[in-house]
Amino acid sequence: MRVLSGIQPTGRFHWGNYFGAIRQYIQLQTEDAAFYFIANLHALTTVRDPQVLRQNTQEAAIDLLALGLDPDHAVLFAQSDVPEVCELTWLLMTGTPLGLLERCHAYKDKKARGLPADAGLFTYPVLMAADILAYDSDTVPVGEDQGQHIEVCRDIAASFNHHFGEVFVMPRAKILHTAAKVPGTDGEKMSKSYHNTLEVFEDPRAQRKKIMRIKTDSRPVDQPKDPDTDHLYQLFSLVGTDQQKEELAESYRRGGFGYGDVKKLLADAAEAYFQPSRQRREQLAAEPDRIHQILGDGAATARKKAAEVLRRAQQACGIR
Ligand code: ADP
Ligand code: TRP
Repeated sequence: MRVLSGIQPTGRFHWGNYFGAIRQYIQLQTEDAAFYFIANLHALTTVRDPQVLRQNTQEAAIDLLALGLDPDHAVLFAQSDVPEVCELTWLLMTGTPLGLLERCHAYKDKKARGLPADAGLFTYPVLMAADILAYDSDTVPVGEDQGQHIEVCRDIAASFNHHFGEVFVMPRAKILHTAAKVPGTDGEKMSKSYHNTLEVFEDPRAQRKKIMRIKTDSRPVDQPKDPDTDHLYQLFSLVGTDQQKEELAESYRRGGFGYGDVKKLLADAAEAYFQPSRQRREQLAAEPDRIHQILGDGAATARKKAAEVLRRAQQACGIR
């Protein structure tokens, strides 16, 4: 069984990325033959500064390793290091109806806002289908927002298989429903585009300041409150220990506590939670050759598989 997923290097990872996706990828690495890649070709649809893209790709690799992605269990590589995927994209593109892509949300949303879209954004789901099909992946863990793209991949694979014979393994999405979306510092969904993020590897002092500025409501201190509907508590529940969570939930229900105290607890818990990863990150960042080696080894393994699948697809459609 092959688990595969990709993550775009469009900036530093925030708590939404970690608790909503990366943490589950890392948990899955011990169960199955896992392939994880840094989707730098997809990121090129938004990141147009070469220095930034190069740096983000390297940082994303270091972040994932520091957070526990273990190259002894999972294959980690950069998307662009497997050129077979781009060749496969073309084979898939020839059979992809325009209507299928016109319905995809990244393109549709941009068009609806009257913004110019390029062919890269329009064909983004076909590249994503090639990413998945190139490795005979059967399980693709993704956030809910990517579910539509997996459906498109299945449609493309089914139509190719129907026309040319059974070439591709049919993948299944494993949608990662985070119980509640990770809220940002304004209580809305945490997202880079809303500028409300807490980053995983932010300097703890800077993060503490951000946490102290989190918006809260103006209910009086002595009023009992429901912890589950409060975004400060939701954030705390991601990083606190079970005992801390129970104690804090109890104080919410009793009333008589100030949000300032909760913020301090949250900042302390966040610092403690990410401390081991932060330490690992410092070591990894000091060893660029090791990162290079891990990505190189990962790409070699991935290319071997992708070349095999590409050959199968080429033979089926009369290219070889
Ligand atoms: P952003 O909204 O900051 O641009 P991305 O779209 O790059 O984030 O997120 C990549 C993945 O991280 C998503 O597919 C989703 O699985 C996860 N994710 C992002 N934000 C959140 C959030 N607030 N809550 C839960 N998961 C999230
Ligand atoms: N489009 C995905 C995202 O923005 C990243 C991605 C690219 C991906 N190719 C993939 C995810 C293949 C899963 C499988 O999050």
